[in-house]
Amino acid sequence: MANLVVIGTQWGDEGKGKVVDLLAEQADIIVRFQGGHNAGHTLVIEDKVFKLSLLPSGIIREDKITVIGNGVVLDPWVLLKEIKQVRSQGINISADRLLVADNTPLIMPYHSNLDQAREKATSNKIGTTGRGIGPAYEDKVGRRAIKAGDLKDVDLLWKRLKVASEYHGFEVQQVFDEIITIRDEFLQYVNPVAEWLNEQADAGKHIMFEGAQGSMLDVDFGTYPFVTSSNTLAGMASIGSGVPHNKIPNVIGITKAYTTRVGEGPMPTELHDDVGWHIAEVGKEKGTVTGRDRRCGWFDAVQVRKTCMLNGCTGIAFMKMDVLDQLSSIKICVDYIDNTPVYEEMSGWRTSTIGMTQYSELPIQAQQYVDKIEELIKTPIVLISTGPERDQTILLNDSLF
Ligand code: GDP
Ligand code: IMO
Ligand code: MG
Repeated sequence: MANLVVIGTQWGDEGKGKVVDLLAEQADIIVRFQGGHNAGHTLVIEDKVFKLSLLPSGIIREDKITVIGNGVVLDPWVLLKEIKQVRSQGINISADRLLVADNTPLIMPYHSNLDQAREKATSNKIGTTGRGIGPAYEDKVGRRAIKAGDLKDVDLLWKRLKVASEYHGFEVQQVFDEIITIRDEFLQYVNPVAEWLNEQADAGKHIMFEGAQGSMLDVDFGTYPFVTSSNTLAGMASIGSGVPHNKIPNVIGITKAYTTRVGEGPMPTELHDDVGWHIAEVGKEKGTVTGRDRRCGWFDAVQVRKTCMLNGCTGIAFMKMDVLDQLSSIKICVDYIDNTPVYEEMSGWRTSTIGMTQYSELPIQAQQYVDKIEELIKTPIVLISTGPERDQTILLNDSLF
C-alpha cells in the first residue's frame, strides 16, 4: 500500500471511520492531521461500537501506531477521557502507540466557553459543535496558542498563558492549576513527530492520513461562512503532519450515496419530505458528537465532482448505498441552472443489498446507480460499502490503495 490520505468529499459523516479502520489493516501508522473532537467517527467491529472523536481510528488495531499531528487542535482533557473510554472497551493504548506532535495547539477551557457563548449571541449562527474548535484555530494563527510541548516547561507555559489571558481575560492561576493536574499523564504521549514520520516513510512504512469533517466544510473551499475552521482537503495532510505532499500519492474520497449535513448553511439537494425522513431513519442520520439530526438529501454530483478535483481523489469509497434500498426512485443532481439543482431520476432496486460483497450480486439498478455516479464525478469507485461492518464491503480495485 502506498501512503494514502482518506478525506470526506461532502459535509462530513460520509463513513470515514469505517474505511480508515478497514484500510488500516494494510497500514503501519495512522495519522490525524486536522480538526479536533468536532469529529465523530463510528466503527462497528463485531459486537462492539467505537465512537472516536480525537483518537485516530487506527487505535482499534493494537499492532498499529497512531499519531495526532500538529494540524489538529487538541483538548487534552478530552483526549485522556477518550483513551480511558476506549481502554474500557478492551483496547490497549500506551505511549508507544499513540504519539501527539509537540507543536499541536491545545483547546483550552476558554475556547469551548467562547465557542458556545458566541453561538448563543450571534446573528450569524454556524451551528458549531461547541467544542472550541474555531477559537482554538484563531489563537493558533493569532500566535497566542498553547502548544502541547509547552507543558514540558512550566515557566514557558505560564508565560504563554499570560499572553493568552491578555486577549481572553481569564485568571491565569486558575487555568494553570487545571492543566497542571493532567500535565504528566498527557506529556507521556507528546513527541516531536514530524522527523519520525518522515523516517518511517523513508524506511518503507505505510502511512495512512485520516481526515475529519468534509471538503464542503473546508475553511477556504467550503460553503463559507458555514464551514469548520480548518482545511479539510487532502493537501492539509502534509501541513498537518510534516510529511511532504509528494510522499502521499493516493487520495481516497469517502462519499455517501446521498447527501447529509449537520448544522446551518446551504444544502441545495436537501429533502423536506417523506423521502428525506426515510433516508434519515434508515441511515440513522444523527450526529455522533452532538446528537443533532442530520439534514438529508439527494446525491449532488456537481458538488462531489468539484471536491474530487480539489482533493485530487485517486479513488472513491461509495458508502451507505444500502440506505437507498427501499426507494422506488432515486434522484441525482447532475447540473445547476440559476443555482437550482437539475435532477436526473433513476429507478430504485427495492431489495436489500445489506452485506453484499460482490458487485455482480447487486441488483442491476444499483449497479446502474454506481456506474452513473462514477461517470458524473469522473473518479473511479474503488469500494462500495453495504453496511457498517468491516466485511460488509465490495472491493472493486484494491490496487488503488
Ligand atoms: P465519519 O464521521 O465520516 O466517520 O462518519 P460517521 O461515523 O459519523 O457516520 C457514518 C455512520 O454510518 C456510522 O454510524 C457508521 O457505522 C455507518 N456506516 C458506515 N458505512 C455504512 C454503510 O455502508 N451502510 C450503513 N447502513 N451504515 C454505514
Ligand atoms: P466528521 O469527522 C459533520 C460541522 C458542524 C458545523 C460546522 C462548524 O464526523 O465528519 P465546528 O464545531 O467544526 O466549528 O462546526 O462544521 N462539523 C461537522 N459536520 N461531521 C463532522 O465531523 C463535523 N465537524 C464539524 O456541525 O456545521
Ligand atoms: Mg462523523
